[in-house]
Amino acid sequence: MNFLSLIEAKRDGRILEAADIKAFVCAYVAGKIPDYQTAAWLMAVHFRGLTREETSALTLAMRDSGDTLRFPKDSRPLVDKHSTGGVGDKVSLPLAPLLACLGFRVPMISGRGLGITGGTLDKLESIPGFTTGLDLERIVATVQSVGCVICGQTARMVPADKGLYALRDVTGTVPSIPLITASILSKKLAENLDALVLDVKFGAAAFMPTLERANELAVAMVELGNTCGVNTRALLTNMDRPLGRAAGNWLEVKEAVDCLDGLGPPDLRELVLTFAAHLLAQTGKAKSLAEGHAQAQAGLDSGQPRSKWDEMLAAQGADLKEFNRKLAQGHQAPVVRELKSERDGYVTSCDARSIGEVVRDLGGGRLTKETVINHDVGMDQLAAPGETVSFGSILCRVHAADQAQAEAALKRLKSAFVISEIPEKPAPLIASVVET
Ligand code: URA
Repeated sequence: MNFLSLIEAKRDGRILEAADIKAFVCAYVAGKIPDYQTAAWLMAVHFRGLTREETSALTLAMRDSGDTLRFPKDSRPLVDKHSTGGVGDKVSLPLAPLLACLGFRVPMISGRGLGITGGTLDKLESIPGFTTGLDLERIVATVQSVGCVICGQTARMVPADKGLYALRDVTGTVPSIPLITASILSKKLAENLDALVLDVKFGAAAFMPTLERANELAVAMVELGNTCGVNTRALLTNMDRPLGRAAGNWLEVKEAVDCLDGLGPPDLRELVLTFAAHLLAQTGKAKSLAEGHAQAQAGLDSGQPRSKWDEMLAAQGADLKEFNRKLAQGHQAPVVRELKSERDGYVTSCDARSIGEVVRDLGGGRLTKETVINHDVGMDQLAAPGETVSFGSILCRVHAADQAQAEAALKRLKSAFVISEIPEKPAPLIASVVET
């Protein structure tokens, strides 16, 4: 195929035929298009956009670039949640086992870190032995027996997203509404779901900086999901501040376990329960959101999702003994340093973008496709907006590979926290719900 003409057409703002988009995806997956040309096309899309029809064609071509999941008939609905990406966003980790305990099947195909946002797969790979690369048969078998699985795209399943996702990450082409829509929905449609809830983040550390842009993305995804037969909703959630008190792969796994143990930070718990409540309402397992919320809360507090988490880990190859030893012994990076408040007051802002950039630069994220992640680095004990601090209180702890990196991170983090004499009510975590 003459791919150069597709790059030029999009560069000049022309609309592409569905057949051409499909041919591009097939050729890309077959390795017939070099990365430099694909990157040029992605950049053209980033600037020129895609129409609704082009976005739908790209999504379906990406979904069909490999096999899709086929599940046996079962009374348990197939559901999933996916986030557009945030800092400290570990919701999927406690949510998947909770949903399994609430009588759902959850075939969660997740992603790696993108830009400064963390990735579910990178977090899970900080667990000894845990494998995110499962074949289709094992995904279906694990979902049927355990109720949930969290894994990645493979050479057989949504391979187009596997390649394009990694390329977008390092070519500045992530924050594009059609590319995010196609990336997320190609994976979710390959799961053959009954219901899907999306976490569309807005704010300083999100790919959509404003609520308006996030709403545009949410409407695009909700419309396409529903058109494709999946009951789809989106929640618009705030990403000006990090979610929870920890950012960084291993530190976030620990916080997810805290949430399953009933000790999790309130904002993480609120999102986990709210997403579960929506899925219960979407599938008719709850008559209202309030009823769904009560069911989700009882489910989480029963302690069963914590055991389900262990079951999922074991089914995906984790060495549970070693994992629990790491948890019990408080495994951490070689250097841990505290950032302390230099005054009394109220935390009015904790800048999620700076936190995400520092985590990435400590080695917790990628700057190139070849970057090897350091799972142990990051931050915890992050002070949240609304909190009172006094001189010498901890604003956060930096976990680093060595003293020099810890020192550099502490310097950069000083301006990430704003302490004021006047208290300010933090903005709500959930701004609105899109159900079109
Ligand atoms: N998550 C995805 O799976 N894809 C994106 O493009 C952004 C977030």
